[in-house]
Amino acid sequence: MVAAQKWSRESWRSKPIEQVPVYPDAAQLGAVEAQLRGYPPLVFAGEARRLKTALGRVAEGKAFLLQGGDCAESFAEFHPDNIRDTFRVLLQMAVVLTFGAALPIVKLGRLAGQFAKPRSSPDETINGVTLPSYRGDNINGMEFTSAARIPDPQRMVQSYNQSAATLNLLRAFAQGGYADLHKVHQWTLGFLNNTAQAQEYARFATRIQETLEFMEACGLTGETVPQIRETEFYTSHEALLLPYEEALTRNDSTTGQWYGCSAHFLWIGERTRQLDHAHVEYMRGIQNPIGVKAGPKTTPDELLGLIDALNPQNEAGRLTVITRMGAERLAEHLPTLIRAIEREGRKVVWVCDPMHANTIKASSGYKTRPFDRILAEVRSFFAVHRAEGTHPGGVHFEMTGKDVTECVGGTQGVTEATLGDRYHTHCDPRLNAAQALELAFLIAQNLREERTLQAKHANAG
Ligand code: PEP
Ligand code: CO
Repeated sequence: MVAAQKWSRESWRSKPIEQVPVYPDAAQLGAVEAQLRGYPPLVFAGEARRLKTALGRVAEGKAFLLQGGDCAESFAEFHPDNIRDTFRVLLQMAVVLTFGAALPIVKLGRLAGQFAKPRSSPDETINGVTLPSYRGDNINGMEFTSAARIPDPQRMVQSYNQSAATLNLLRAFAQGGYADLHKVHQWTLGFLNNTAQAQEYARFATRIQETLEFMEACGLTGETVPQIRETEFYTSHEALLLPYEEALTRNDSTTGQWYGCSAHFLWIGERTRQLDHAHVEYMRGIQNPIGVKAGPKTTPDELLGLIDALNPQNEAGRLTVITRMGAERLAEHLPTLIRAIEREGRKVVWVCDPMHANTIKASSGYKTRPFDRILAEVRSFFAVHRAEGTHPGGVHFEMTGKDVTECVGGTQGVTEATLGDRYHTHCDPRLNAAQALELAFLIAQNLREERTLQAKHANAG
């Protein structure tokens, strides 16, 4: 039994590990780890507990999770405008979902720490030259030179600093007035003008404004109701680079428990979730809300084993299962997983990542994702949960506030031929702002249908 053994923040070191960078200079790595252990935590245990409580409400069907942001943050794209643009598309999506579905939305960014990338191959070959793969800016450089591809521990310090500055700006945006609901019209991004999404969003924003005026007349203002003038925004990333995560794992003085303090929420990816391996070992001991990805080959027994290890107390909100199966395979496999988990009475948050099993290579050589397939996976996710009588808890996207051309399709009509126009990602293709909003409208509609059905059942019962 995994759970019976003693855990410490370094107990993962005695387990087999996947996707690990090999640092040429162990002493230098040790020095950086010591330096990071002395740095302030990026988040507090109390904040992680608040998020866990919010996710507990998602598990019970009373809220919905919106998780999104970059596939990989990068040092080169570190700029306040990029952070602001991603944040405001997430705000726009959240407003569409809250208002459209009349459900509280838990907002979680793939931001302020999403640097390390698992790779399907340890090497990359271009024109007959083979070099180690790029593993994310906190490990090595994207440039195709042997020097750039050597893992450099100093990159962890730069990632920490960038995460701290990003988080600082996000906190200011969330609580310093930018997220005030009176500003819904101002969140619209310039380049969205005149698109169908911008027009539909403008209609939403006007209705929200009228609602706010009505509420004000009733005495409910930003002064009396803080939720009107500020929002709660949390951060997350894949806990891949364990030396970094370990260095930021801290003991919470109020409870005596351990928390991963690099982000509020951490998840284990599809390639590193082996039950007896290092990543599961690390994650089982921290008290944050955590996630695990589940691909199309995940068996019910495998998932139940992971739940035993990662959520032995069956705490609602502790564990989020992020399915990423591809539209067709999801309809086939997800019901089996849901039934096993329901039969055992396990509490999980079910989240749909419609990105990672829908990646293809365009004839031009670009990695892309057809928007239609992304939509199809989201639709199928809602349909399966409706049929099983379980709550579709949330969605997990790779997106940006920029007008990029990385995923083909959507009403803006990105095509294989135009992929090269603005293809900026450091890793996987992301939804652009218009595509992200289009998805939000689709999800709002599905959530509304779910609520209508629930109300019908309640009336019938
Ligand atoms: C990711 O979320 O960027 C990722 C690599 O996902 P997965 O582990 O599901 O492939
Ligand atoms: Co990705």
